[in-house]
Amino acid sequence: MKVLVVGAGGREHALAWKLSQSERIQQVYVAPGNGGTARDKNLVNVPITEIAELRQWVMANRIELTVVGPEAPLAAGIVDDFRAHGLRIFGPTQAAAQLESSKAFSKAFMQRHKIPTAEFETFTDAALAHAYVDRKGAPIVVKADGLAAGKGVVVAMNLQEAHEAIDFMLLDNSLGVAHNTGGARVVIEEFLQGEEASFMVLCDGQNVLALATSQDHKRLQDGDQGPNTGGMGAYSPAPVVTAEVHARAMREVILPTIRGMEKDGMTYTGFLYAGLMIDPQGQIKTLEFNCRMGDPETQPILMRLKSDLVDVMLAATSGGLDQVELAWDRRVAMGVVLAAAGYPMAPRKGDAITGLPADGCEAMVFHAGTAQRDGHIETSGGRVLCVTVLADSVRQAQTKAYEVTQAIHFDGMQYRRDIGYRAIKHNV
Ligand code: AMP
Ligand code: GLY
Repeated sequence: MKVLVVGAGGREHALAWKLSQSERIQQVYVAPGNGGTARDKNLVNVPITEIAELRQWVMANRIELTVVGPEAPLAAGIVDDFRAHGLRIFGPTQAAAQLESSKAFSKAFMQRHKIPTAEFETFTDAALAHAYVDRKGAPIVVKADGLAAGKGVVVAMNLQEAHEAIDFMLLDNSLGVAHNTGGARVVIEEFLQGEEASFMVLCDGQNVLALATSQDHKRLQDGDQGPNTGGMGAYSPAPVVTAEVHARAMREVILPTIRGMEKDGMTYTGFLYAGLMIDPQGQIKTLEFNCRMGDPETQPILMRLKSDLVDVMLAATSGGLDQVELAWDRRVAMGVVLAAAGYPMAPRKGDAITGLPADGCEAMVFHAGTAQRDGHIETSGGRVLCVTVLADSVRQAQTKAYEVTQAIHFDGMQYRRDIGYRAIKHNV
């Protein structure tokens, strides 16, 4: 089989790497890919990003399956377009992808279907938003409606931060949010406390199959300090998701979402990611939905997946997920993100990367913001690499991941030294 992975990040490198291990595979292509997928001899990059052009390439090259990594092409309707031409593609339609692309849509959806989430209101009028914040007090959370590459959320610890966030989201759009129909909107919601986990499933429109659990580290610096990022590291499994929390997440969040989307005429297919906040009593609330796998969570999750991912994708695109049981490596997988100088505000490009190890099955360095130039690898984006390892415990995974990290160098390299600290608190 010839398979295409759409995207250019660490998640897509991991998806392509895993798909290419299947015996069914003749060739895995990545569009547009990155320096890591370019140098992997099992993968071929295709320099196309535009949807119609990509579909023409897929038809001309008889690609039998397309797997979409990031949210932007999903929100732009790549699944609708490919399906209209009879092509096999795994992901949600444009309408279903609103669960991620519009906070106003997803919050209203959760309210309508009684899915637990923070109390909220949606505003287009700045004066009304300011008045609401004054009435509710801080801490309070202000979210831009529209894709914002992980930068559209401000957790305001005081009123001034909340008022500023309203102004730059509603009046200035200084984040460059892709507004939905109707223009700029913000969702303002109750501040929740607890521990976060990433809960991902696959859905074929009917059947739901949970992936292994994981936990991300969203802040730039150790101890969850500094600005929010796309994610600075992740590990799987997440001990905070006990068997009881898992059952609850399926019962209270995932299944009502899939059924609700069906009822609302937007049958859900693809990966579904629920960001959960879990309180000390094990009660859960939904922070957000993503209509794709998480990055960097995908990297450790796929290191643990023992099943053939091509088989899983074929079942998932033909309504057969009820026939699939996923097999997982019992060990812990951990991914440490190495980010460029200046990330997340203004990442620097063009720094030479040295010390990359050979690929192995217990340690893989997945590439994200890298490019190959004259046979060398250099930085080309904010999150550059994700050093991902398998080990018997979180502590051993830390030791191993940081050992590999020590050997890698590029000027201005930033990374957290405490990935996995919450799992260690849980005594794993
Ligand atoms: P989101 O894109 O909605 O997941 O928000 C990004 C991050 O902001 C989350 O991972 C949380 O760390 C934080 N966050 C979002 N909503 C809330 C909330 N209601 N209370 C506390 N923190 C939140
Ligand atoms: N790591 C969080 C996300 O992919 O949205």
